[in-house]
Amino acid sequence: MEPILERTVEVRSHLGPNDERTLADDVLDGLTRPLKELPPKHFYDALGSELFDAICELPEYYQTRTERLILERHAEDIVARTAAVELVELGSGSATKTRVLLDAMAQAGTLARYVPVDVSATTVHAVADLFAGEYPGMSVVGLVADFERHLAHLPEPVGPRLVPFLGGTIGNFPPGTRRRFLRSLGKVLGPDGYLLLGTDLVKEPHVIEAAYNDSAGVTAQFNLNLLHVVNRELGADFDVDGFEHVAFFDREREWIEMRLRATEPQHVRVAALDLEVDFAAREELRTEISAKFTPERLRGDLEAAGLELVEMLTDPDELFAVSLARIA
Ligand SMILES: C[S@@+](CC[C@H](N)C(=O)[O-])C[C@H]1O[C@@H](n2cnc3c(N)ncnc32)[C@H](O)[C@@H]1O
Repeated sequence: MEPILERTVEVRSHLGPNDERTLADDVLDGLTRPLKELPPKHFYDALGSELFDAICELPEYYQTRTERLILERHAEDIVARTAAVELVELGSGSATKTRVLLDAMAQAGTLARYVPVDVSATTVHAVADLFAGEYPGMSVVGLVADFERHLAHLPEPVGPRLVPFLGGTIGNFPPGTRRRFLRSLGKVLGPDGYLLLGTDLVKEPHVIEAAYNDSAGVTAQFNLNLLHVVNRELGADFDVDGFEHVAFFDREREWIEMRLRATEPQHVRVAALDLEVDFAAREELRTEISAKFTPERLRGDLEAAGLELVEMLTDPDELFAVSLARIA
């Protein structure tokens, strides 16, 4: 099939000064709760994105290589089944696994456009530049945007869409918000689009815990970087060395929690908010949940969001799943 667009590359940003407000609102809301908490999207400044890429290469972090393996085995079938001409990737990051899908679409002669969407401006620009050079005939429209707030800014479809949401990022949403978010994807998919959802699966807790407590300490650096972000963006004075990384599997809720624990009492001032916060010794700040899925949980979440699970693809050890879903 001939490319249906003239090849163009552009990056549009929907994050501006108001989005520092989002961090400000999240810090004000999260640091004044009984269990202090900040949402994980604030991890991903330029350094946080680099650290996440380093995590993906760690021996303990089975998720990335397993998801890549599943994609490599099934990309051709996924492309044939969906007849997709464009990829709209949510939380694309450095999109290393996306190449597998783009290659399969290029091979099938259907690849017209790639739309990476991420809060990290550096990664969206880098991916747009890199991929535009590698796939002749493919247009790129990068969106520096928050997928929870800016999906209405996606460009009009150019044909059937495949919407990869990889890396287990869906697990970062608590259950109710997760279903609401999945429901919002219906409009993005349209009548002939497919969601391609990567989910980490429930398994032996020690395997999961090892992935978030790597021996090189990269996940700890990634977690602690959040305090550097708040210090820099909101003029806070967190003593980052006074916090330690904590990650554990909550067996009842079947999710990982990452936290930062104050090793000593600490008084923190957040200048931009005129906010003073106290941490007691050993008090924890929750920075991420990462839900692990069973087929039932996945099907239930999709159904509650008006989506139908079409196929769930896993690796031989059933560590991870990549699922195709569409509007029910
Ligand atoms: C766990 S990483 C996954 C990256 C990549 N998809 C992968 O599979 O390796 C999550 C990605 O989503 C992005 N992200 C997190 N929250 C976001 C939000 N609310 N809107 C847009 N991007 C977000 C982060 O910047 C990061 O690149």
